[in-house]
Amino acid sequence: MKKRVFAGDIISHIGEEITFTGWVHARRDHGKLVFIDLRDRSGVVQVVFGPSIKNAGELRLEYLIKITGEVKKRPQAMVNEKTPTGQYEVSAKKLEIISASEALPIPVDSDGYEVDEEVRMKYRYLDLRRERMKRNLKVRHDVAHFIRVYLVEKGFWEIDTPILTKSTPEGARDFLVPSRLQQGKFYALPQSPQQYKQMLMIAGVEKYFQIARCFRDEDPRADRAYGEFTQLDIEMSFVTQEDILQLTEDLFTKLCAEIFPEKHIMQTPWPRLTHKETKEKYGTDKPDLRKDKNDPNELAFSWTVDFPLFTEQTKEDFFHGSGVAKFAPSHHMFTAPHPDDIPLLDADPMKVRGLQHDMVLNGFEVGGGSIRIHDPKIQEKVFDLIGFSKEQKEQFSYFLNAFVYGTPPHGGIAPGFDRFIYAALGEKSVREVIPFPASAGGTTSVMTAPSEVKKGQLDELGIEIKKGNKQ
Ligand code: AMO
Repeated sequence: MKKRVFAGDIISHIGEEITFTGWVHARRDHGKLVFIDLRDRSGVVQVVFGPSIKNAGELRLEYLIKITGEVKKRPQAMVNEKTPTGQYEVSAKKLEIISASEALPIPVDSDGYEVDEEVRMKYRYLDLRRERMKRNLKVRHDVAHFIRVYLVEKGFWEIDTPILTKSTPEGARDFLVPSRLQQGKFYALPQSPQQYKQMLMIAGVEKYFQIARCFRDEDPRADRAYGEFTQLDIEMSFVTQEDILQLTEDLFTKLCAEIFPEKHIMQTPWPRLTHKETKEKYGTDKPDLRKDKNDPNELAFSWTVDFPLFTEQTKEDFFHGSGVAKFAPSHHMFTAPHPDDIPLLDADPMKVRGLQHDMVLNGFEVGGGSIRIHDPKIQEKVFDLIGFSKEQKEQFSYFLNAFVYGTPPHGGIAPGFDRFIYAALGEKSVREVIPFPASAGGTTSVMTAPSEVKKGQLDELGIEIKKGNKQ
């Protein structure tokens, strides 16, 4: 068996006989000679089949084949400067067809933007064969890897938290999972690991991170995935807001230098704007500070700080219900008020600033976090202000209870993993950087969930579908 070589590595094997496995990306039949562009995950290489390779004529697009052959420099007239391996080719001595392919339902040699998204999602495993999507997958991998190495070196522990849990109110609608063992009761999928990461601080973990899956049933947008998305969730004990900003800024500045060397960060340290300033100056709390918005290589990070702790509660608000509340948390209800503003919690709650920080990139909110409340009395006060009833407070009693056993001051942040990559790459939608996203219509890729279930399954759960609700 000759050594298997990737397309991207053939340059270091000139003159050698190698084995190469890949998909037929393009095919040119010149009668005596058949030219194939063979693709593996690292790129494309040209293979030439002479008349002695009898089965070369059978090859069709996307056939998976194995060839053995010699890596040669191409004759000068045949050099293709456009591809990295364009100066070389493999002269095939042997061909084995591993798997034939039917004609593909979507092209995979284009960038794919021209193909209907529902069809791309149906055949996502093929859609991911295209170069752009493979690059996006690789970027995702590289970002995750960089983050892990960076944070582990800084003493963080990567800890996972439950998916079957209780509602974590981050403001969106929950996904509910019916319980079989306790019929009539439901788990909720976490909107974020917020409460667990705070409990890990109470447990004494000090520095936690998780590349965490979060679930929110809210309408999708270009920058918002439907159903599930990923956060880089971080929490630390004994820190100030400054510590959190500095750690995040250092991590992402170094990450960008390593993974996007062609891009440059507009300004370091990242500009910090108060909520009031950015609203007044740019009319938004996530300003796009790029000088040239057409330049794909500009990365304009900034921080927005000094948010008001509360916004006015609206009818649609998650927290609405008690009928008495005027206030909703701007970030979430665990965000600490600015220590100077504590007296205002009674006097004028709308004037209280929160220790919230939003991380902004090119006009997108790519992360959010805060210093948390660690005094159960203040937490209860915030619950009161947002209008929690006695029952609602009781629902959170486990959380308030946890705070009476020596809670360290703590805080953190959760950059959106997908949204950051989407913003940094300047992709058209966040779905372009998620391996198997749900479509804009909420149907999962390839497997087309949600789907109906058997009556027996519903019976076990004690669930009956209301007539007229079936689609
Ligand atoms: P927040 O709700 O602000 O904070 O979420 C943090 C970041 O997650 C990303 N994000 C999304 N990305 C893609 N699709 C979505 N549907 C989506 N929703 C949110 C955004 C956002 O800035 N527990 C807190 C964090 C904390 O306080 O530490 C939280 O979840 O980039």
